[in-house]
Amino acid sequence: MASLTVRKLDDALKASLRLRAARNGRSVEDEVRMILRDAAEAPAAAPPALPTAPPVPAARPQYGDRAGAGRPRVTLIIGGGIAAYKALDLIRRLKDRGLHVRCVMTRAAQQFVAPLTAGALADERCYTDLFDPQSEFDAGHIRLARDTDLIVIAPATADLMAKMAQGHADDLATAILLATNRPVLLAPAMNPLMWANAATKRNVAQLIRDGVHVIGPNSGEMAEANEAGVGRMSEPLEIAAAADALLRPPQARPLAGTTILVTAGPTHEPIDPVRYIANRSSGKQGFAIAAAAAQAGAEVTLVSGPVDLADPPGVRVIRVESARDMLAQVETMLPVNIAIFAAAVADWRVANAGEQKIKKTAQGMPQLALVENPDILATVSKLTHNRPLLVIGFAAETEHLIDNATAKLRRKGCDWIVANDVSPATGVMGGDRNTVHVLTRDHEDVAIDSWPVMTKDEVATALVAKIAAATGHPPA
Ligand code: C5P
Repeated sequence: MASLTVRKLDDALKASLRLRAARNGRSVEDEVRMILRDAAEAPAAAPPALPTAPPVPAARPQYGDRAGAGRPRVTLIIGGGIAAYKALDLIRRLKDRGLHVRCVMTRAAQQFVAPLTAGALADERCYTDLFDPQSEFDAGHIRLARDTDLIVIAPATADLMAKMAQGHADDLATAILLATNRPVLLAPAMNPLMWANAATKRNVAQLIRDGVHVIGPNSGEMAEANEAGVGRMSEPLEIAAAADALLRPPQARPLAGTTILVTAGPTHEPIDPVRYIANRSSGKQGFAIAAAAAQAGAEVTLVSGPVDLADPPGVRVIRVESARDMLAQVETMLPVNIAIFAAAVADWRVANAGEQKIKKTAQGMPQLALVENPDILATVSKLTHNRPLLVIGFAAETEHLIDNATAKLRRKGCDWIVANDVSPATGVMGGDRNTVHVLTRDHEDVAIDSWPVMTKDEVATALVAKIAAATGHPPA
């Protein structure tokens, strides 16, 4: 069979062929082959296959997948880390949400998973090379950068983030990232020491300033034996939910104009300058509530004890150490419309905290005298001036959950209590899931709303929706 030549076509037809080939991710020669094959296979009366005029651009141009028309499109850039294997599951989770997925892999990523696997799971072949003759025709990286609704990077390695922060463009992934004007969501994954490194922190801070969205990393075990800490990539379900949230049309902001104060985390009560009393609170639930309230349009201030969590987007965060510092900050933030006290405030502090490090002596053990800390929730609930319209407390109990929570609701004088079982078997303390009961008080009556096990993010979203409904701002 004679080889193909497209030189003798007029310019308009060539332009139209180029466009069509670009949309389908093929070379012009391959596109012509496809057209000829379709024409040969079509019934005799079929309309001519070759276009005679440049096609009208589709409202949402496709690139390679005719079935993807109308679906929001995600370009998933897979970075070179061990978490790359989870990106394969992420492809499926994104598709479960009705998204069209196209993959790009860095050279390092290909050491962990094969482009063929990613391409087979996604809606089209996986792209790997900046100078790929098939996709670089017509500046393919520019089209890959623009012909998408969202770019997700998972795993986002320290190196990839460093290159992004610096604006490098020496491979396909970084060239796409530099050329895009679409939202970008990063799911970092790396060793905890790399995540804690000052250079990584600087790069992440820069990327957030540049408008990049970041999910995670979570804390947990690493692939390396005996290593744990903050650095695990967020789970594919969480990343898919975050991607979906970025792609959905801007939500109604039911709490716009509402001021909300949230407390979170443990408090540290000094024994001396180096030792303190603390508890196992991670702060995750309070941070999730602050994030969900901000997303619902509220003006949120989060007063947090010492935790290892990044500031939620759009939230003013004030970091404190002790219960007394927390109360002082809370008082300066009043008045607010709503106050949510999710912090696990230490009940006691050391009355005779040492100014210097307490030394071991022959006289025996130091005697620590404890005094009660101020109860921030009760203090604010009982205010006669500047009391928030809605005051919500938390009751973390290990037994008789509902009875103890009901008693706490009455004793502290708040309006709602979110009760959760924190006995060690539940894994709630420090974990990502929570099972809660929301107790609401109407004078002497208490109503109980029991929710199924959910992630802490889901609990936060549900709580914010309940607040919006109760305060007369139901979500649209
Ligand atoms: O520790 P307890 O179970 O009493 O905590 C119940 C609620 O009271 C929580 O919402 C917590 O934030 C709040 N609290 C507080 N100040 C304290 C102790 C608890 O605000 N000193």
